[in-house]
Amino acid sequence: MAFPADRPRRLRRTPALRTLARETRVAAADLIHPAFVREGIDDPMPISTMPGQQQETLGSLSAAVADALSLGCAAVILFGIPEHKDATGSQAWNDQGIVQTALRTLRQTHGDGAVLIADCCLDEYTDHGHCGVLRGDGSVDNDATLELYGRIAVAQAAAGADIIAPSGMMDGQVLAIRAALDDNGFQDTAVLAYSAKFASVMYGPFRVAADCAPRSGDRHSYQMDVANQREAVREALTDVDEGADMLMVKPALTALDVVARVRDATDLPLAAYCVSGEYAMLHAAAAAGAFDERAAVLEVLAAIRRAGADLIISYDARQAARWLQEERNSA
Ligand code: PBG
Repeated sequence: MAFPADRPRRLRRTPALRTLARETRVAAADLIHPAFVREGIDDPMPISTMPGQQQETLGSLSAAVADALSLGCAAVILFGIPEHKDATGSQAWNDQGIVQTALRTLRQTHGDGAVLIADCCLDEYTDHGHCGVLRGDGSVDNDATLELYGRIAVAQAAAGADIIAPSGMMDGQVLAIRAALDDNGFQDTAVLAYSAKFASVMYGPFRVAADCAPRSGDRHSYQMDVANQREAVREALTDVDEGADMLMVKPALTALDVVARVRDATDLPLAAYCVSGEYAMLHAAAAAGAFDERAAVLEVLAAIRRAGADLIISYDARQAARWLQEERNSA
């Protein structure tokens, strides 16, 4: 017998054979486009911490979403930046609030042809920048916050969101939102739970983009310790019990182990969020000539899919979809 017996290189010989043997693929239909929509601006505003990304006006948002959909992206997830912030974040559940207005516009334009996801949280709306309301001592009041998340979810559902995505990491948030939606006639609105969301430095660029950095303290009392894997699986299973329709792990690259374990632990659709800091690192390295931007982005997306994510929220969603289209056209 010839040595060695196992010759995996046989299936690596040509591009066509490699395509044949590929275990996971990335398609535009796996990618979700995140968008920041800001109230009270006349022109889109570039985001200094995320080169190539911008805060959208209602008009530029519509164009970006139309582009994402025409490229075959799976969905958009909306983050709002209100003109006025207050202690409870009340613009978050205002019917005329920026995300609600954007949802109505997009729904009117695209009908059911667009999957619209609304991030459900308070940090972009509170003047203190925390994801919940504060007690007198400055700590975040879990159960008082749940009531407000319920109001936000109902306002977003009424404005046309298909999916509500609670990102605040309050205990019981999926249950509270599910109950609020059901009580208000939105039984068909789904919940995508940010199940395992780590207290990560990787959200730094986003906090500039969404103007939501905590004015004092940090998010460690509600977001997860980055050292914890078992707890992440427990968070995911709790969300399944509470009625989540889909789960998310965030960040993606620093939590690929968690993506893999949550994939094994549940059968729900699973998303991973390749966050702002991961975007910033990749593009800064590419801009510095460390590697080819396109190859790097496509490799990262493939790795996240390989870890077990069905869907990827990525600031590169549109760009990657365009590259994938070019690849198909040139094949
Ligand atoms: C909170 C929220 C954050 C992100 C998504 N939702 C910021 C935070 O938790 O501080 C970060 C996403 C990213 O970094 O791309 N509403």
